[in-house]
Amino acid sequence: MSRIAYVNGQYVPHGQASVHVEDRGYQFADGVYEVVTIVGSHMIDEEGHLDRLWRSLGELKIDAPMKRDPLKMVMREVIRQNGIENGIIYLQVTRGVAPRDHPFPKHTAPALVMTAKRLSLDAADKKAEKGINVITVPDIRWARRDIKSVSLLPNVLAKQEATENDAYEAFQVDDDGMVTEGSSTNAWIVTQEGKVVTRPTGNDILAGITRASLIRELEKNDVRFELRPFSADELHSAREVFLTSSTSYVLPVVKVDDHVIGNGQPGSISNKLRDIYKDFMTSGH
Ligand code: PDD
Repeated sequence: MSRIAYVNGQYVPHGQASVHVEDRGYQFADGVYEVVTIVGSHMIDEEGHLDRLWRSLGELKIDAPMKRDPLKMVMREVIRQNGIENGIIYLQVTRGVAPRDHPFPKHTAPALVMTAKRLSLDAADKKAEKGINVITVPDIRWARRDIKSVSLLPNVLAKQEATENDAYEAFQVDDDGMVTEGSSTNAWIVTQEGKVVTRPTGNDILAGITRASLIRELEKNDVRFELRPFSADELHSAREVFLTSSTSYVLPVVKVDDHVIGNGQPGSISNKLRDIYKDFMTSGH
């Protein structure tokens, strides 16, 4: 099945999908995005992602490109036309096309683009069974990381540094030595006392949808957890480390910088939480 993209009202072959050179997303990174997981042809946490999209748009004073229900219909149509059983749908909204000038243009409609792609659940499981390596890097991003902006250059640089160091992800560390989040994931530890810890939401991190769903599952399953910042030192000496995101689900970390975590194998709590999260994804949510 050939890939189809949605670009401003039209379904077009992926290879021919394009936007104008003066789209403000292209010139100013003046836009926002969402990545929604699809499992068994169903979107996971669709409402949470749309709530966050609307919030990001509101914070940047970008109009919604369409009402929520029609947008959901377009998302379903993109998934259907691409025949996605397991994968992701990507949505991007920019302030639209206008002659290059920094202030908001007055009469410009926002631009909406969607793409979808398949992802293999087996490949994700293989990665999780082995566990991944992470490095730490200074967090050089702006002060509104709660907005899911397409301005991802620091995240790209962090991920590239991870790649060059045989790591899958880079956890960013703020000026106080506290871990904020990964370049495209939320960071978690399990302390030596067995408590699950992740940073509270605020302007410093993106309020991950996977993070929020996992927290709900922790509550349901009586798993002890704490919302508080943790330091890079605590990360290095944690009993277990894992990360969450729409594309990684719950992914165990076995090495951070030069520190082997636990015995170098995914920890039992991380594995249990991955299972719990996978059950949540496959149980029709
Ligand atoms: N990234 N933190 C950052 C900086 C992110 O970019 C993401 C998501 C997350 C996790 O959020 P969620 O659980 O809602 O996916 C945390 C997406 C997957 C991406 O950029 O591809």
